[in-house]
Formats: sequence, structure tokens, C-alpha cells
Amino acid sequence: MIPLRIAVIGAGNLGKIHARLLAENPAAHLVAIADPSPTAQENILKQVSVPVVSDFRSIINDIDAAVVATPTRFHFEIASELLAAGKHVLIEKPVTDSVEDALHLSNLADSTGAVVQVGHVEQFNPAFAKALEEIGTPKFIQASRMSGYTFRSTDIGVVYDLMIHDIDLVNSVFEGNVVDTRAVGFSVFGQNEDMAQARIQFSGGAVANLTASRCSFSAERSMQIFGTHGFSQIDFTNSQVTTIVVPSWIRNRELDFFNLTNQQQDFIRESLFENVLNRQQVDVPRCNAIEAEHNDWTNAIRTGTRPRIGARQGMEAVEIADGILNSLNTHRWQQRNLAMTGPLAKLPETGVADVIPQALLPQMRRAA
Ligand SMILES: NC(=O)c1ccc[n+]([C@@H]2O[C@H](COP(=O)([O-])OP(=O)(O)OC[C@H]3O[C@@H](n4cnc5c(N)ncnc54)[C@H](O)[C@@H]3O)[C@@H](O)[C@H]2O)c1
Repeated sequence: MIPLRIAVIGAGNLGKIHARLLAENPAAHLVAIADPSPTAQENILKQVSVPVVSDFRSIINDIDAAVVATPTRFHFEIASELLAAGKHVLIEKPVTDSVEDALHLSNLADSTGAVVQVGHVEQFNPAFAKALEEIGTPKFIQASRMSGYTFRSTDIGVVYDLMIHDIDLVNSVFEGNVVDTRAVGFSVFGQNEDMAQARIQFSGGAVANLTASRCSFSAERSMQIFGTHGFSQIDFTNSQVTTIVVPSWIRNRELDFFNLTNQQQDFIRESLFENVLNRQQVDVPRCNAIEAEHNDWTNAIRTGTRPRIGARQGMEAVEIADGILNSLNTHRWQQRNLAMTGPLAKLPETGVADVIPQALLPQMRRAA
């Protein structure tokens, strides 16, 4: 097997992981890493020994494919140049920060035949697949994705940053299109929302309730899925899935629950989650989801098959995220036009302050 010649563009947090894994992947030959930042270049060279360049254009003729792991606002410009040059691309999520740009990339990929994979890496999390195994058709999903503040991805809000993972997951399992979206959001530090809550309804009747925060004191990545045959709960952090399959004798109403004797009621009450709604908890073996994402992408390039998350799927996630942002931007808080910034912030009258508040100065000096 001749390895595909691949470059990683953007050597930040995600780019470093892509580069390290691709350097070890027999299906890939990591040709170079491109990043204009001297600090990022210096840091990546401590991890992998491959040529580092400032501009990906200088190595574009030496590669078959590239991973785009720059801040989201640069995805479109970089990926469209790569696609126009006939290269395959793996674009980190979200594919772009506008539906129009995502559609353009998708059409460009169709016209060149390039394989585009979008980095919705949670699709490769085996816990998600396990949770869907026995519960029939998913109808209602509730998800929480919370982290502390990291100062990363501040060019986008939490909807594009974190909620997009769950948006893509629900969109991939629910039937139909989105018919209604209601959302609220709060900004704590900047102009983009740091917390958001959305209720999304699909034409097939399915509903998703998604919550995300990047300003939370507790870290959590969890999902509850209610299907036609049962319920699953996923703890993504600990790779644990708890499932209850509702037995057919309950679904078919074969037992008249409302005419049981007192003893029968006691028995069911006391052993509900053992004998009736049997609860199974599984530790799902972990895998490196980014490595699985690379393998799926390189295999699709090699065999001409479709990658797991194509450009159109990435675009649909952006479209749903846009609907959420529109809803939270137009939400009215007590007749005041606070919109996306939410009730925590007042609208800036003279622009955002660029000085550190007096009260924080002593601690900031000590930390410096
Ligand atoms: N899949 C996931 O779970 C996941 C998690 C976090 C971030 N991301 C996504 O990955 C992307 C990168 O996020 P990050 O946290 O690594 O950001 P980061 O800020 O740590 O790194 C981005 C790097 O891109 C570089 N860069 C900027 N412009 C460039 C250009 N024109 N050419 C080459 N390099 C350029 C910057 O110098 C920086 O080193 C974002 O789109 C983000 O949404 C995905």
C-alpha cells in the first residue's frame, strides 16, 4: 500500500493530535505541517519531526490530501483552495461558519470528486453506536456538553464549538428535516454565546433538547436517548452506556398494571429496574476516535467509497446550528433587546472595555 501524502494545516491543539496520529499511521505519509505562527511551529516540532512551513501553498503540489485544523473562520478559504487544486480534505468541525460557505465546499467537492470528511469525531465514539443498538428508533434525545472556559475557539460561540457535536449526532439518527427551533443563549465574556439551550423538532416528530456550556464549573458530556423500544444513557467521558429495553409484554400491554394485587405492586416497585425494566450498564471499550476518523477518510480516498461524515452532512449541522443562533439572537428578555448576549450582559455602548478591571489587577500581577 502506497501511503497517501498528507499535510496538516494548523498546528494548534487539534492539529498537534492529527499530526502525531498521522505520523504513526501506515496509510499516511505526513509530508508537512503548515502554520504561520512561530510558537505553534516550535511546539509541534517537539512532538513530530516533519518539515514545518508557514504557508500550505508552498507544499500543495507535494500532497494528495490535507487536514484543515485552523480556527473555523479560515476553514472555507483554505479548504476551497485545496479542493480547487484537486486535493482530498478532512476539515475539523464545524465545516465552516456559514451555510453558504459549507454549500460551496460541498458543491466543489462534488465537482472534483474529492473526498471530504468533516471532523464530527463523536460519530466514531463506540459508546454512541452501543447506545443505539437495542432501543429501536430514536424519538427524543437530551444532551449536555459542558466544559470550563479554555480561551479556545473564541472566534465562534458554544453552538458551533461544542453543541455542533450533538447537533450532528441527532441529525444523523432522526428522520426528516428540522421544522422548528427554539433556543436561548448567554454570553459571559465576549460577543459570542458561552452557554446555549436549544429545542429542535424534526418533521418525523422527533425532538432534541441540547444544552452546551463552555463556562461551566462541572465538565460533562452526556446524552439520553428515548427510542421506540427503550432508553439509553451515554456518559461519553467515562465511555459508559446504560440501557433499558422495555420488554415486549409491557409494550404490548399484556399485563394490566392497574389491576395488580398489593403484593404484585410491591414486587414490581422493589425490583422495577431488575425484573421489569431491566437496566444494563456497559463499559464500552474506548478507541481513539480521531484515529478511526483518519482510517475512515483514507480508506474512502483509496476505495472511492463515501466517508462517514461527508461535506453535505457537515453542512446540515451548520444549517441547524444557524437556526439555533437565529432563534437565540432574536429571543427577547423582558422587552429589552438583549438578544444573544442574554440577561447576563448589557449591550456595549462604547465598545468592549480593553482594560483589566481594578479589582482583578493584584491577582493578575501575581499570576504573570
Ligand atoms: N473535533 C473536535 O472535537 C474539536 C475539538 C476542538 C477544536 N476543534 C476544531 O479544530 C479547529 C482548530 O481548533 P484548535 O483548538 O486546534 O485551535 P488552535 O487555536 O489551538 O489552533 C489553530 C492553529 O491554526 C493556526 N492557523 C491560523 N491560520 C492559519 C493558516 N492560514 N494556515 C495554517 N495555520 C493557521 C494558528 O496559528 C493555530 O496554531 C477548529 O475548527 C475547532 O473548532 C475540533
